[in-house]
Amino acid sequence: MTDFSQHVHGSDQLHLAWVYDTATTMTVIWRNCEPSSIPTLAYRAAGDGEWITIQGAHRMTDDRGALEEVTLSGLAPSTRYAYRVRCGEGNWGEVHEFTTGPERDGYAAMDIAYVSDTGLVGRADGLSDGTAQVIQEIARHDPLLVLHGGDFAYFDTDRRFQWLEEAIDYFFNQMVPVASQAPMMPTYGNHELMYVLQERFEPWAERFATPEGSEGRLNYSYDVGQVHFVSICAFEFDDPLPEERLAWVVDDIKKAQAAGRPWIIPVLHVAPFAEGQNHPSNLALRAQLGPVFEELGIRLVLTSHDQSYERTFPLVDVPTANTPTSSSLDEYHPGDGTLWIKVSPGGKRSNINKSFSVFATEEAPHWTAVRSNTFHCFALLHFGDQGDLEVEVLGVTGDGSEPVQVDRFRLLAPAGA
Ligand SMILES: [Fe+2]
Ligand SMILES: [Fe+2]
Repeated sequence: MTDFSQHVHGSDQLHLAWVYDTATTMTVIWRNCEPSSIPTLAYRAAGDGEWITIQGAHRMTDDRGALEEVTLSGLAPSTRYAYRVRCGEGNWGEVHEFTTGPERDGYAAMDIAYVSDTGLVGRADGLSDGTAQVIQEIARHDPLLVLHGGDFAYFDTDRRFQWLEEAIDYFFNQMVPVASQAPMMPTYGNHELMYVLQERFEPWAERFATPEGSEGRLNYSYDVGQVHFVSICAFEFDDPLPEERLAWVVDDIKKAQAAGRPWIIPVLHVAPFAEGQNHPSNLALRAQLGPVFEELGIRLVLTSHDQSYERTFPLVDVPTANTPTSSSLDEYHPGDGTLWIKVSPGGKRSNINKSFSVFATEEAPHWTAVRSNTFHCFALLHFGDQGDLEVEVLGVTGDGSEPVQVDRFRLLAPAGA
């Protein structure tokens, strides 16, 4: 088993982020074990051109070294770049590659991964039996962007780490295969927010670079090609969003619509539609966001938290009748309503029942299109250059056997595409 707490060649925890324009910038963060040196990175368009060297700044320092940050700007859209970071004053690290986002006009083909509830590889209690394979599979698909839907480390029950900072180091090290080749953008969950779970938002937010957003970066949004993602902090089991947060979300979505964004996708950790016994639906959140998202024409909402895969048909009249507008299992049209998808776990089984979440009822509710609680899951959002979106959900057992397709459906292009 790889020990992710070790420094590799004097630097580690390499990860990418989009803080500014996703078509022309990339922010690179890594830990340097020689914090006295000036953080230095070299990059070039993938190929064999001249390396361009650029210096950054310390994002934060502590007794374990410095977290370095460099933002590359003036990049060409939809272009592959190679980069490497310098370790201390000495050697250059391994070469990695990423792709910049497409220009915002029109539709571009791009694949974006969504994963949540990963936990840390190699837990002593065996509950993170899918984490390594999920990371490996996502890296193999080489998406443009990775959305992490929250519950990163489960520090309180992992028990291998004395300090939270060590668990955070370990998390960023295990994610290097994914996060060194694509920006990894967080949505914060109950494990990052609930004091009782022994983690806090601030130590995580210090490590993740994100746009400014609202409430000190608890929520934020950004555009990638034709898509506007809204990362919303939803971590309470029974409560709706605070009024201030809801107001920011609505305002943010309306601004994106006014700017003509064809796809607007909210991401939130706690699920308004979840039929598992571990973390049942947050009904207050459903009652609050259902009518709001329907009114705003939101077609897809990404959630997690309850450890199984579930997704609804496109629905209207939430939370009263929760009426499906289609009986199709795989194709939906603009105006069909809001489809709620819950993709979980991304590697770690629940501490509550030591497994995947058991469904509360044998028969699924009438609004459920597909559900499965036998795999660790992640989703690939395949955006097409004609405006459509195909969602593919893959499941793994963690034993290295081939991923299984758990679900696949298509949302047809927005009107006018
Ligand atoms: Fe979780
Ligand atoms: Fe959670």
